[in-house]
Amino acid sequence: MTKQFAVIGNPIEQSRSPELHHAFAAKTGVDLHYKKILAPLDGFENVAKDFFAHNGVGMNVTVPFKEQAFALCDQLTERAKIAKAVNTLWMQDGKLYGDNTDGQGLVAAIQALDWNLENSRILILGAGGATRGVIYPLVQAGAQQIVIANRTLARAEQLVDDLKDAVPQAELKAIGLDQLTGEFDLVINATSASLTGDTLQLPESLVFHHAYEMAYGKPSSFLDQAKQRQIPSTDGFGMLVGQAIEAFSIWNGVKPELKDFL
Ligand code: ATR
Repeated sequence: MTKQFAVIGNPIEQSRSPELHHAFAAKTGVDLHYKKILAPLDGFENVAKDFFAHNGVGMNVTVPFKEQAFALCDQLTERAKIAKAVNTLWMQDGKLYGDNTDGQGLVAAIQALDWNLENSRILILGAGGATRGVIYPLVQAGAQQIVIANRTLARAEQLVDDLKDAVPQAELKAIGLDQLTGEFDLVINATSASLTGDTLQLPESLVFHHAYEMAYGKPSSFLDQAKQRQIPSTDGFGMLVGQAIEAFSIWNGVKPELKDFL
């Protein structure tokens, strides 16, 4: 029987999840159908429950419902608990399970580029949900120091306070976006600046060797500056594929190779 999957969000038209999951299915021989569901802004819970009541097997959750999905779950993975957000749902033994595969998706994408994370020093720009979701997986993959730089310093400080006990093996630090300096193996842009068309200005005193932009398909002043400096850089398409592969493997018990889909 064809297994039914969906991604839920608002808006949802732009989502590339159906094409990715259908490509994974073709490669691995899984019989599935994966659709987009546009839920009303106040209708996430009803629409999600209805999907699982009608034999839905698994659901991805995107903006703006990841925190609501987190609140709805009966069981959560460790990384979902730390992220306080869920992007992957499924039913097991009558219970709704939630995971967050975004962070591992980023780690897999970075590793597929052969960028080293072991003992790395990472600077993350932004202190929103996107940053929260990736810190634990980055530390598990070997990051030694993570500096979180945010326009609103207090938000970065709050994030460090919230997460430091979850990653005792790493050093977490909060700074203002106007205090950028020092040397990093990797800088990750997790602000929504590229999504809103805003410019980020990186000072000369900030030295870095790799640049990861979480957004994809948008002009990025962050990536422009990395290219001017001629350092290895990429947009967030690999992370998107990586999180989808993680979800696919949870649901279907078979893991496609990231490199086959980049
Ligand atoms: P997400 O869930 O995608 O992380 P979010 O929680 O709205 O989204 O967070 C957006 C992040 O981008 C925040 O860190 C925000 O900084 P503030 O906390 O100071 O608002 C950051 N951001 C958005 N636009 C920005 C800009 N033009 N310059 C710098 N940072 C920006």
